[in-house]
Amino acid sequence: MGFKEKQMTMYNSKIIGLGHYVPEQIVTNEDLSKIMDTNDAWIQERTGIKERHWIAEGSEDTSAVMGAKAARIAIERAGLTTKDIDFIVFATLSPDYFFPGCGVQIQDMLDMKTVGAIDIRNQCSGFVYAISTADQFIKTGMYKNVLVIGAEFHSNGLDKTTRGRGVSVIFGDGAGAAVLTREEDTTKGILSTHLHSEGAYADKLIVESPSIRNWVPELMANPDDISYFPYMDGQFVFKNAVVRFSEVIIEGLAKNNLSKEDIDMLIPHQANLRISQFIQRKFGLSDNQVFNNIQKYGNTTAASIPIALTEAWEQGKVKDGDTVVLAAFGSGFTWGSVIIKW
Ligand code: COA
Repeated sequence: MGFKEKQMTMYNSKIIGLGHYVPEQIVTNEDLSKIMDTNDAWIQERTGIKERHWIAEGSEDTSAVMGAKAARIAIERAGLTTKDIDFIVFATLSPDYFFPGCGVQIQDMLDMKTVGAIDIRNQCSGFVYAISTADQFIKTGMYKNVLVIGAEFHSNGLDKTTRGRGVSVIFGDGAGAAVLTREEDTTKGILSTHLHSEGAYADKLIVESPSIRNWVPELMANPDDISYFPYMDGQFVFKNAVVRFSEVIIEGLAKNNLSKEDIDMLIPHQANLRISQFIQRKFGLSDNQVFNNIQKYGNTTAASIPIALTEAWEQGKVKDGDTVVLAAFGSGFTWGSVIIKW
């Protein structure tokens, strides 16, 4: 192969292993109604959520620990060992530490070679951004096998009183992981990824503190400052989500000369069942073409797509040759899609 040809060689990447892990403790809507003024009917009607998993007190689980558990399953199912992984991409908004990131903890927990590891901070779009990042490294030939993880430990940071009920009933803990590898046939695997952001709305869904701007001593000095709890303008987020989800799915399909009729499986970020249903109707998809599991897990942010993708694959709903679409929207605002020929 001549130098010029070699320069132009590009690969695709494909997902060859998936795994997920959720903490044991299930918290139902009924359980929540005992600690705050809420009820099962309100939560189900507005969000579709019936229960979520929250890490129990005293458990060893954290975002990194759950991520490692999911990753072990994904690597084994890929038919690889941890020694075969060339790079780690870890998406989370709830890292174990302010720094260093969870990616480096995975390198240690899985006893891996001293491979590179990065954290992606793109909230609900985190996994889509992480897949896109992994895909670029594989496309250029820099790495062959990349481990991508999305994990969240929300429950310790939620306001579990009536004051926080508009947010805290929505979020759940969990982790999902995927192993991506080089695919030489560029008509297969990840066909394209599409990423967007709009920072003007950063304050619409945010955890402001503790931050270097508002560090612990300042926070402690003002008992009324509860900016360490997530704030969400729910209706504003909802309205933007339905528009951006649609746009970025259409963008991804168009890039690949596909139409909505070509979608075999859409796996939307599990933000709210009502958002998924809106998108399903808009694209005229049947129940078999959209995968939802928010009913069991709530919104697990960066973990939601890999958990859903793992379950869809385990249930035989994602098969060889299928056109699979991943799409997400969330805090930032950030949004994105991934178009895959499975
Ligand atoms: N239980 C019972 N009542 C609740 C409640 C709860 N958990 N949370 C809020 N309420 C109350 C409010 O206090 C309000 O009462 P009021 O009318 O007396 O003031 C009423 O319910 C309506 O609140 P509102 O916030 O307007 O509800 P909503 O219809 O917008 O639904 C969300 C709230 C959060 C479910 C909805 O806005 C949403 O899903 N947004 C998108 C969120 C999302 O996707 N986030 C993740 C982004 S990736």
